Amino acid sequence: MAKTVADIFESLEWGPAPESRKEADAWLDAHARRFGLYIDGSWSDPESGEYFDSFAPSSGAKLADVAQASKGDVDRAVKAARAAQRAWEALGGHGRARYLYAIARGLQKHSRMFSVLETLDNGKPIRESRDIDIPLVARHFYHHAGWAQLMETELRDYGPVGVVGQIIPWNFPLLMLAWKIAPALAMGNTVVLKPAEFTSLTALRFAELCDAVGLPKGVVNIVTGDGRTGAAIVEHPDIDKIAFTGSTEVGRIIRVATAGSGKKLSLELGGKSPFIVFDDADLDSVVEGVVDAIWFNQGQVCCAGSRMLMHEGIAERMVAKLQARMEKLRVGDPLDKAVDIGAIIAPVQLERITRLVQQGVEEGAKMWQPSWSCPTDGWFYPPTLFTDVSPAATIMQEEIFGPVLVSSTFRTPEEAVELANNTRYGLAASIWTENINLALDIAPKVVAGTVWINSTNVFDAASGFGGYRESGYGREGGREGLYEYVVPSWMRMAGKPPSASAGTSATTTGPASPGGRAVAAAAAASPAFPPIDRTAKLYIGGKQARPDGGYSYQIAGADGSPLGEASLGNRKDIRNAVEAANRAAGKWARTTGHLRAQILYYLGENLAARAEEMARRIDRMVGGDGGAREVAASIDRLFTYAAWADKYDGAVHHTPFRMVTLAMPEPIGVMGIVAPDEAPLLAFVSLVAPAIARGNAVVAVPSERHALAATDFYQVLDTSDVPAGVVNIVTGRRDELSAVLAAHDDVAGIWYFGGAEGSAEVEKLSAGNMKRTWTDHGIPRDWYDARQGAGDEFLRESTQVKNIWVPYGE
Ligand code: NAI
Repeated sequence: MAKTVADIFESLEWGPAPESRKEADAWLDAHARRFGLYIDGSWSDPESGEYFDSFAPSSGAKLADVAQASKGDVDRAVKAARAAQRAWEALGGHGRARYLYAIARGLQKHSRMFSVLETLDNGKPIRESRDIDIPLVARHFYHHAGWAQLMETELRDYGPVGVVGQIIPWNFPLLMLAWKIAPALAMGNTVVLKPAEFTSLTALRFAELCDAVGLPKGVVNIVTGDGRTGAAIVEHPDIDKIAFTGSTEVGRIIRVATAGSGKKLSLELGGKSPFIVFDDADLDSVVEGVVDAIWFNQGQVCCAGSRMLMHEGIAERMVAKLQARMEKLRVGDPLDKAVDIGAIIAPVQLERITRLVQQGVEEGAKMWQPSWSCPTDGWFYPPTLFTDVSPAATIMQEEIFGPVLVSSTFRTPEEAVELANNTRYGLAASIWTENINLALDIAPKVVAGTVWINSTNVFDAASGFGGYRESGYGREGGREGLYEYVVPSWMRMAGKPPSASAGTSATTTGPASPGGRAVAAAAAASPAFPPIDRTAKLYIGGKQARPDGGYSYQIAGADGSPLGEASLGNRKDIRNAVEAANRAAGKWARTTGHLRAQILYYLGENLAARAEEMARRIDRMVGGDGGAREVAASIDRLFTYAAWADKYDGAVHHTPFRMVTLAMPEPIGVMGIVAPDEAPLLAFVSLVAPAIARGNAVVAVPSERHALAATDFYQVLDTSDVPAGVVNIVTGRRDELSAVLAAHDDVAGIWYFGGAEGSAEVEKLSAGNMKRTWTDHGIPRDWYDARQGAGDEFLRESTQVKNIWVPYGE
């Protein structure tokens, strides 16, 4: 008997509704299923003649041969990009906007082709590639066509970085390409992009589109290949910036490989994002939210809501509802329009998922899967739910990158926050509650670059996206994302970093001599300078502290005569200072901008009160008579950052999903700040003031050679109501102390202004916890002395943007 619509509606059963793959196959056939490299606007064979197979995850069938680019191929691509860059920049914002607009139109005109090809190559359901990925790709190019048009007015003082190397993963092949290429091109850069080896096809089809719209040769180059090709891009000396999305493991390799190269770097890495459900949430919406959080793209999503934290009282009900929903999910041929979950990218990923699930069971968590079984002719994995997972369990901590949800419960909002933040990652979070007060109380407390309220996995070109902690740094999308692809004009002029200033190494004078004998003796021989019988101490937790090692070192005047002694701090002193800063950081971050402004003004006022004495000291240390001017400039700078303390606002992005997205610049946390020898007071103030104005707590290492400029400053700090621990000062050997700071896990960011070699070392060591770094690269020698010494760049480097998506309107 034929089924009626009512029957079908009742049983929710329907037959397959496959999308045709005819056109995609015809395109593959037209290329004889073999693809070369797209370099300088034309196609070429790889130098080595090496090709690799690309498979369809839903069947395991081979789709095409794809070229493996070698170092030499990458070099050709970089040369083409370099040759094209000037003209592309010179084309101007409007010219570039025209091309980006043409690309966006082309993507829309061929959207079905791109969707089908993406689904074939990646295994994601056609519903997702058709309704989410490809529309977002086009939107990204339209949005950035706009930024190209506006660059000359809105980013007046900036220029492109130059040639950008971009390496992307396989989970959103074309979308990640768009996130990388659109802003880069808009800002006048040219690119060499490497798709992931599992999913090269849509990027190759995209290269054809670039050709079709007449994009100038060399502006976009697509080199396919595996990690070796990626490494060749990372190591290429003529690339100015690397943008990477992928695993934290490879991100760390890239951080170390680029250390000291002066390459700008943005990393979008892994996650283990919490999905927090409070007891007043609308549980039916929550269930649909979970489907989008962890079963979207088979859970192979960096920001997947993979850790569900449920309010204890609703946990049982929530789990029952979820299991009922899971029972109805359909796993299968991704080209079927009625399928919810497609195929896993590759056997290696399927093995990883299977292994981690097995480990979860072995470690004692409860595992549940629906009663039906998955197709066996491709690489499939069923939706899986773990309950009673302990916070330390492997599956609670590791990114599984598959359709596996782990869960546990909490009793209070405080406990929810604690559990949510119990991870090395910080990419995203979802908060589900009908109570907006509660949601907006929790959002700032969760350590994550994106927070979705009563929603999840929503993206838009107008909003920034990116991580905190080991999820990486830099933003993609939104105005904040543009800064990844530009350099302030004043830094562009400066070029490569200076090498470490010569002759700064401290000579130890042995355990601090109570009477400062060495100083007194030398002073006796130099009647022009009366002895200063004092050894400056360290400043930790709001108190002067003797150095742990009991050593001090001599500070010489410009004429070589001894001026005084500074404490020689060591590893232990840095650790104490970091601890003090950590104790102070949370409260300082929560103080009002108004209060921080008042304190910075007060610092300026108290520095003014001691201006003469400070100026004299500087003149003696560095020679000349510039001390008075330096002190005056330092006071001016303190006023500048007092002014900024309550004005560096965020933005509201108008994202088209019945949402507003609040882009909030948040402090980085505890920061290490290593100051140069030049202008010892002004440079020190210029670095510390913006950091504390934005709510960070700092451990500052002042100029090694002229340390007394900063030790005098702590007396100003003492009298200016700066809370204990917000500014800590450790004097001593610059590179020894900065290495401890750079490797310290409780330091979230480090600025280093001490030359090329030290910059390289700091960048390398920062990879441990992926702390943000800002080093000498491209900073002119006299930065502190010019307008840029108080530029926006300092505020931006003191903050990271959190985007909070809030439902709004209909
Ligand atoms: P991956 O990080 O190795 O691959 C990402 C991209 O980096 C690919 O294009 C790859 O060819 C390239 N690459 C690999 N080694 C490189 C190197 N030494 N230098 C430069 N580029 C290099 O990720 P993979 O192996 O595909 O997946 C492994 C795990 O990483 C997954 O199971 C998942 O947990 C995680 N992952 C996370 C992603 C995210 O967006 N958070 C994306 C992809 C993977």
